[in-house]
Amino acid sequence: MGKKLKVLYNKKTILKRVKDLAQQISKDYPSGELILVGVLKGGFIFLADLVRALIIPVHIDFVRLASYGASTHSSGKVKILKDLETSITGKDVIIVEDIIDTGLTLEFLKQELFKRRPRSLKICALLDKKSRRKVEIKVDYVGITMEKNYFVVGYGLDFSEQYRHLPEIFFLDP
Ligand code: IMP
Repeated sequence: MGKKLKVLYNKKTILKRVKDLAQQISKDYPSGELILVGVLKGGFIFLADLVRALIIPVHIDFVRLASYGASTHSSGKVKILKDLETSITGKDVIIVEDIIDTGLTLEFLKQELFKRRPRSLKICALLDKKSRRKVEIKVDYVGITMEKNYFVVGYGLDFSEQYRHLPEIFFLDP
C-alpha cells in the first residue's frame, strides 16, 4: 500500500540551506585540504549539492553504515559496511550526514573516526531531529532543525529504499 507524501521542504529551501552551509564551511577552512566523509546511502545527494556550492577544494570519501532496516525505528546498533579508502590521520574531516535522529549512528561513527587521529573532526547534517536525541552529540553544521519529528523521505532519504530520488523532502502521511 502506498503512503501519502507531503512536501515538507521544497527545492528552494533545501538549496538555500545547502548554500549557507557551504559558505560557512568555505569560510571555516579557507585553505581547503578538507576531507568530507559522506555517509551512504542517504547523504549522497546532500553531499553532491554541498561540494558544488563550496569554494574550497576538498577530498571526498564515503562510509556506509548499517542503520534502519525496513522499519522507521533506529535499532541502536551500528556497524561499518563500507569503510573509508583514505587515511584521515592528521587531516581536517567533516562527516556529512543526511539526518540526525537519536544520534546513535553519528556517535558511533565519530568514535570510530577519532581512533584514526584526525586533526579535527566535525559533523554536518542537513536535517536535525533535535528533540529525539538519545546521546548528546555536537552537530557543528546544521541545515534545518526539524520542528516536528516526521519521518521524511526524498533528497537521498528513503523508506525501505523507496523515494531517495525525489528532489524535495517529504513527510510520510500514514
Ligand atoms: P540516528 O542514529 O537515530 O541518529 O539515525 C540516523 C540515521 O537514521 C540516518 O542516517 C538515516 O539513515 C536514518 N533516519 C533517521 N530519521 C530518518 C527519516 O526521517 N527518514 C529517513 N531516514 C531516517
